[in-house]
This record gives sequence, structure tokens and C-alpha cells, in this order.
Amino acid sequence: MTAIAYYFKNVIITVVALILCGVTWIIPFNLMKITVAPAVFETGGDYYNIVWETSFKGSGCVKYTYNGEEKVVWDSNNGIITSDDTVHSVRVPKEELRGNTYTVESQFIPFKFSYHCLKGRKCESEPVVFGGEEKEADINILCIADIHEMEKEMNKALSHIEEKADLICMIGDITSEMRTKDQFTKFLLKDAADLSGGAVPVVFTRGNHETRGEYAGILADYLGDEDGKFYYTFDFGALSAVVIDSGEDKEDSHKEYSGLVDFESLRNEEYEWLCELDKKELDGRYRIVFSHEPILDNHFGKAWTEPLKKLGMELIVGGHWHESRFDEGELPVFIVGGNLGDGQWAASMMKLSNGKISVKTVDTEGNILLEKDV
Ligand SMILES: [Fe+2]
Repeated sequence: MTAIAYYFKNVIITVVALILCGVTWIIPFNLMKITVAPAVFETGGDYYNIVWETSFKGSGCVKYTYNGEEKVVWDSNNGIITSDDTVHSVRVPKEELRGNTYTVESQFIPFKFSYHCLKGRKCESEPVVFGGEEKEADINILCIADIHEMEKEMNKALSHIEEKADLICMIGDITSEMRTKDQFTKFLLKDAADLSGGAVPVVFTRGNHETRGEYAGILADYLGDEDGKFYYTFDFGALSAVVIDSGEDKEDSHKEYSGLVDFESLRNEEYEWLCELDKKELDGRYRIVFSHEPILDNHFGKAWTEPLKKLGMELIVGGHWHESRFDEGELPVFIVGGNLGDGQWAASMMKLSNGKISVKTVDTEGNILLEKDV
């Protein structure tokens, strides 16, 4: 392309963009909106990921005051503020967010050229008072798995639980597939935002259904830890937890995966990581494992329970089996409910108090399916 043609092309694009941008400013209502409110995700380490969605692509930042200083933390990558996405993910230091109030803000960025850009209107969330303070006693953990788009039934089950959660664990298969971005935002992200109100941390444990579809690969950009992984450890006061990414539920060669998965490599890497974890780093009074597939004594040929026992873990909490179940043993397993079939759905509340782990599972009709002290 000649220099003149290149120049005229840019002039035309700029004029069209100015008209479009002008239209968005002239319209008396703002088309740039927050379509999914912020949720704060635990990802291990010293940072939370705050994630939300807007109606149009643009920038995103989180604002709060810490030690008298006004902070603005951007959704950015290697110094560049991300402006080409409708989902915004900002990493904020846990220490600065706990017990603090934050807002999220986004601005419509219709066009970003090399040396100038066109900006549309902004939108901002209501201020959110975030809890997340680490507790040493009486920790309530809401355990949700296998929603599989049964939000209506889930909310019915939750209406029978009175306790307020300090922590929300979403233990996989929140959606049935990750074929489109909407399946992430309208289900997984919206469920996290609705359940937590953005005010308590959400622990996401990847289920096998979250590995399926074209969008599954980029889920880690928003919810993964700093290395883009879904397995990590975290502390929450008296709780020390290991989060396992149990991956797919069948061998890589299964026809369902069309030869496009390599979970064997992931499992090898993750198992090695698990064996190298330091027991001294996980010295909370309560030591719990969260894994979508909770039956780990022979997980693709390896006894994952052995390194977990060496770490002093006391309980594995999971889903996948669509049932309310407690397996006694050296390392007990608690399956929290989820989609039970025939329109029934069950949620669980776990309480850590007086040195005991108490679990209770309630279904859509308010029936208590399981109640137990560990
Ligand atoms: Fe599953």
C-alpha cells in the first residue's frame, strides 16, 4: 500500500470512528454497562483476581483507598492496559482489599490506533464492602458443585441455608461446557457474582466440564493463578487448603476429546507439585482439599491421597458424582451434592469451629440429606 493510500485509509477510519464515538456520547443513556457485577476470586498467593463483564469492550480498573492513598489498579498486561475485551480481570493485593471498600470502572474503547485512540463513556459499579478478613474461628464455607445451569433449583436449596458464608467454594462443573464466552460470563461468572455479591472470596475449582469447548483454554486468563494454573494452595485464617485441578475424567485418547487434550502432562506436572509441597506451609488448624473429582486414591494410576496425607490433610471436598455422600477413611471424602436428577439440587455448608469440621447438605425442598461432624 502506498503512503498516500495508507494515509487516506486511516483518515476514513478515524472519521467513521469519530462519528460512532460521537453517537455514543450524544445518546442520552449510556450503552456501556456492567453486565456481570464483580466477583473476587481466590487464586493462591498474595493476590485476588477481581473479574467482571461489560456490555462493550474497553478498559477496566479497580479503585479503593489504602492507608489514606487512593489506589487505581488496571487490567493490564506487561504495561499495556487491556482495551479489547468485555471481561476484565484485575489482580489486587489481598492485604489491601481485606475489610476494604472497592469499586470497578470500565470505559468503552471503540478504536485504539498506534498513536491515538477513541474513547466512549464510562461505567462504574456501586461501592462493594469486601469482607475476606481471615478468621481463626467459626468459618462458614458454602460449597457448591455441579450447578449444570440449574441456578433456579440452586437458589431454592440456598433459601434453606441461613448461615452467612465467609468463603464460597465453587467446586467445578458450574457450566456444562465452555464453547462460548457467554457460557463463562452468564453462568460461571454470574453465579460467582450472585452468590458472593463481590463481598467474600470465591474459590473456583475447575471441573471436567469447564475443560470442554473452544473457550475452555482461555478461562485461565481470568481465573488462573499468576502462572495461569488452576491448582494452588491458600490460607484463610485457621484454614489451610489445597486446590486440585482434576482435569478431564477420561483418558486423553477418548473419542470425546478428538485428540485435542493433553491432561497426562498436566497431571504429571501437578502430581510433582503436590509431592513437593511443604507441610510447614500448610499448618492451619483445619486442612482441607478441594477437588472436583474427590476420589483420588487411584487418579489415573496414581494415589494422589498419599502426598495429601503426608501434608496432614484431613478431608477432601468435591463434586462430580452428583450426590450427597460422605466416605469415612484415613482421608475422608465429602461430596457436596449439586444436580441430583429429577429436578433436585443440593448445596452444602461447612463450618469450621471448636476444632471440628461440620458439614450439612440441603436439597431444593429443604430436606437435610447429610449432617456430620468430622
Ligand atoms: Fe464432573
